[in-house]
Amino acid sequence: MPHPPVELTVHSAQPYNAEPPRTALADRDLTPLEAFYHRNHAPETPSPDPARWTLRVDGMVERPATFSLGALRERFRGHTEVVTLQCAGNRRAGLAEVADLPGETPWGPGAVGTARWSGVRLADVLREVGVEAGATDVELTGADVTEEPGAPEPYAVSVPLEKALAPEVLLAWSMNGEPLPVAHGAPIRVVVPGWIGARSVKWLERVTVADRPSDGHYQAVAYRLLPADASPARGRGVPLGPIAVNADVLAPADGAEVPPGPTRVTGYALAGGDRTVVRVDVSTDDGRTWREADLDPQASRWSWRLWHAELDLPPGTTRVVARAWDSAAGVQPADPAEVWNPKGYVNNSWARVTLHAI
Ligand code: MTE
Repeated sequence: MPHPPVELTVHSAQPYNAEPPRTALADRDLTPLEAFYHRNHAPETPSPDPARWTLRVDGMVERPATFSLGALRERFRGHTEVVTLQCAGNRRAGLAEVADLPGETPWGPGAVGTARWSGVRLADVLREVGVEAGATDVELTGADVTEEPGAPEPYAVSVPLEKALAPEVLLAWSMNGEPLPVAHGAPIRVVVPGWIGARSVKWLERVTVADRPSDGHYQAVAYRLLPADASPARGRGVPLGPIAVNADVLAPADGAEVPPGPTRVTGYALAGGDRTVVRVDVSTDDGRTWREADLDPQASRWSWRLWHAELDLPPGTTRVVARAWDSAAGVQPADPAEVWNPKGYVNNSWARVTLHAI
């Protein structure tokens, strides 16, 4: 079925934060560029000149170096991965229904998307400069300057050295076969498969090898999971890294009217980290009974797993519930109240949509 043009829900214009409706994500391995969510923290989107752009690699390395775009392309072997990015704040609106989340963007379920990313491996660049003994983390700094912490500072986060050296972590210049759009981080962004979107730094300018995590705001303060009773202002929380198992029903749309009888319901599931999706269940009686959905072939090890199920809908209103299981036997919790936290991250409670069969 052809997809209609996509209208994004814009949460804020500066910084630009916007998400597609679920149906724009449905039934496709790759999310088209116009349907890919935007998550920014700085009011101004940088637009580095690719001809003058350079990447500085420094810190605990034997040979600090600066690479132009041309040098990256010439010196290192190209690599492509299909990877799903998901913001840690995806589905926050469901948590805000449990209790207020003041000052946090009320993301619906669209802060997730899958693209084919091409570039070079961060590991190859790190090997070229030689990582010194004792290094544990790699800080990634973008060109955008954020105001959130009070004093302006560049967007900077880090990943453990072990993940930075993993073959799937990319410095990407292309998205779905197109040049990487400025809005998604051109000329180069990092793509950290399996980890929360916040670690996939856009407009990358600097890679710094260190013996501790970044003390940038978005590593040291934000994107941390606080216990439900902690104060967001004071608690330090647990840094978010690998994504928790999650799933959604993408079509038919929530609230759709469909004919009674056999109805094809489709969605995605995402395991996160090094885990894989092993099973998706759907229920039409609020989780009292379940049936297994069919899993579609996966586009890549690092992409979401699309799934589908034929449901026989009686006339009237039915709530369709879905939950995924990962290869570590992790399964989604039933209720957003179980996972509520003061900054509204990682809502991976069961997916729910309401269908009206008339
Ligand atoms: N990189 C920079 N430089 N600045 C940012 O604000 N946002 C992060 C990450 N990388 C961000 C960034 C977050 S929270 C997410 S979820 C993803 O980028 C979103 O990527 P997208 O806008 O291309 O979808």
